[in-house]
Amino acid sequence: MSSPKITLVPPTEAHRDTFLRGLREFQDEGLPWYIGGDLAEVERDFGAFVAKKLAEATRRTAEFVPSTQLWAIHEEQFVGRISIRHELTESLRRDGGHIGYDTVPSFRGRGVATEMLRLALPVARTLGLHEVLVTCNDTNAASIRVIERNGGVLRETQVLDPTKPAKRYYWIDLG
Ligand SMILES: CC(C)(COP(=O)(O)OP(=O)(O)OC[C@H]1O[C@@H](n2cnc3c(N)ncnc32)[C@H](O)[C@@H]1OP(=O)(O)O)[C@@H](O)C(=O)NCCC(=O)NCCS
Repeated sequence: MSSPKITLVPPTEAHRDTFLRGLREFQDEGLPWYIGGDLAEVERDFGAFVAKKLAEATRRTAEFVPSTQLWAIHEEQFVGRISIRHELTESLRRDGGHIGYDTVPSFRGRGVATEMLRLALPVARTLGLHEVLVTCNDTNAASIRVIERNGGVLRETQVLDPTKPAKRYYWIDLG
């Protein structure tokens, strides 16, 4: 698969329409919380939503560590998002890791996630990380490919819940 030309940009009001279209697609498949939140609320005040996403890069609460979200833009359209957590909590160590990503359903299978992760790794390095943990379900063949094509080394697989797929723990060395 040839890599699509994408750029990673901080959340911006410039991509309102295609972001909302993507969010609608995520909502239809039942995954809206990954990138946004409640669609009606995001639509009502997109500026506030963007400001909140940008603020997450420096916000620290009892539950959340700072997290940089970047949007993947392909031919002026929002096609996915990737988030880099600046450090791990106990919960992120168990599930979530440093980096999480989603590709808008209608853009899947074109190399977007592979390219998003490739472009996000140097960003993680500039945040001071030397290696990153990326977790995924043992059944998520696409995500496994994305991580392994970006140099992910499988350190362990754990069953966290016997009713759910096992979790894979990959580490990527950033040098
Ligand atoms: C996982 C996900 C991010 C992959 O995004 P994507 O942009 O389609 O990924 P890519 O196009 O870069 O494909 C990566 C590889 O997976 C393969 N692939 C894509 N969909 C696949 C599928 N359903 N089954 C098996 N392999 C698949 C591709 O062929 C490609 O392999 P290749 O490198 O050998 O060509 C996307 O499916 C998604 O957003 N899923 C829902 C949320 C999610 O699972 N996020 C990741 C949590 S760890």
